[in-house]
Amino acid sequence: MSKAIFIRNANQLITLQGGSYAPRVKGEMSELGIIEQGSVWIEDGVIQAVGTDAELIAKYEARLAEAEVVDARGKLVTPGLVDPHTHLVFAGSRENEFNMRLQGSTYMEIMNAGGGIHATTRRTQAATHEELFQESYERLNQFLRHGVTTVEAKSGYGMEWETELKQLEVAKQLNEKHVIDIVPTFMGAHAVPKEYKEQPDEFVRLLIEEMIPKVAELGLAEFNDVFCEHGVFTPEQSRRILEAGKRHGLLAKIHADEIEPYEGAELAAEVGAVSADHLLKASEKGMKAMAEMGVVGVLLPGTAYFLMAESANGRKMVDLGVPVALSTDCNPGSSPTVSLPFIMNLGCLKMGMTPAEVITATTINAAHAINRGGEIGSLEAGKKGDVTIFNVENYMKLQYLYGVNHTDTVVKNGHVVVK
Ligand code: NIG
Ligand code: FE
Repeated sequence: MSKAIFIRNANQLITLQGGSYAPRVKGEMSELGIIEQGSVWIEDGVIQAVGTDAELIAKYEARLAEAEVVDARGKLVTPGLVDPHTHLVFAGSRENEFNMRLQGSTYMEIMNAGGGIHATTRRTQAATHEELFQESYERLNQFLRHGVTTVEAKSGYGMEWETELKQLEVAKQLNEKHVIDIVPTFMGAHAVPKEYKEQPDEFVRLLIEEMIPKVAELGLAEFNDVFCEHGVFTPEQSRRILEAGKRHGLLAKIHADEIEPYEGAELAAEVGAVSADHLLKASEKGMKAMAEMGVVGVLLPGTAYFLMAESANGRKMVDLGVPVALSTDCNPGSSPTVSLPFIMNLGCLKMGMTPAEVITATTINAAHAINRGGEIGSLEAGKKGDVTIFNVENYMKLQYLYGVNHTDTVVKNGHVVVK
């Protein structure tokens, strides 16, 4: 039995109650379930009660002395933030490419010349398990300091079995050793390795017949993701890869319509993907198909910002009924950030979402994007004791005072882990 923890008297407690069964759409995304002077009682890592401070004091009066009290007076309390799309486990950095892009080279040119994803793949192949673990562990510490308590993590800097396996094993070990929960995704289909340039279908065959079955058998991933993009994997190849994953129990995700329109959003709806991510160039038809099928649109405005591209049309997707989530896309090429709060700010200023919508997009909708809507993403009895406290009075101010890390305290599984 661990000690009870009592988070008390928040100026605004954002509960997002009632969102466990389906991601929120349209108007629902603005319903934050705010409790003023709100408190949360957590025990054994699980939320036991949420209410006004007066209600919880009355309920737990006899046990107050045994609880660790966290005073949230004047502050904003939210569910622990959820980042549903990262390439967490990688080695090295690519500031040289950043410099090249600022002088006119494009992301795809650099990649096609053997840099980009290929450069990080070489570094990741060369790194030992221990080195990869250390680098990624440090990144997780930074995520935590920005209020994030759950992170999805993709492989994909291997392009051969041994390194893909190494990345997924590192992700598994991180999940065990770090307080942040990791949801693992196999992304063997991140790029076509040089050796297969002339015969990409042979690489697709390798993914479908060998790697996907092995990943599933070893229980190393929950999702299967593919970079569906001109010059990478075609929609037809992507479909085959995602269907193969499904046959082996891996849920589908897709990097869709990131650089050029390619009917990735349509494909996501067709294969019943849990999420379609990026969507900068998604068609209206594709957005409508996603809305119809309840495919979560995971938008990554940090990537658009960093690649100096126009952001996805978040406003339009919300208005069309797509359940929208937001993520950092943390990776060394197109979005080397761990700051989900900064991504929220971009969601407001670059995609026309409101401060309330971006909170929903980084909590309950992000949880649904990684199939965790029943366990995290809202503050209600029975959910994990994952809570973030920000040193601002209200949720609008969190976006308004931009470029500052307002994270004050983070509680993970009912333990104070950042203070
Ligand atoms: O989500 N688009 C493909 N993958 C990553 C970038 C990976 C990299 O550049 O290293 C993305 O943007
Ligand atoms: Fe990505």
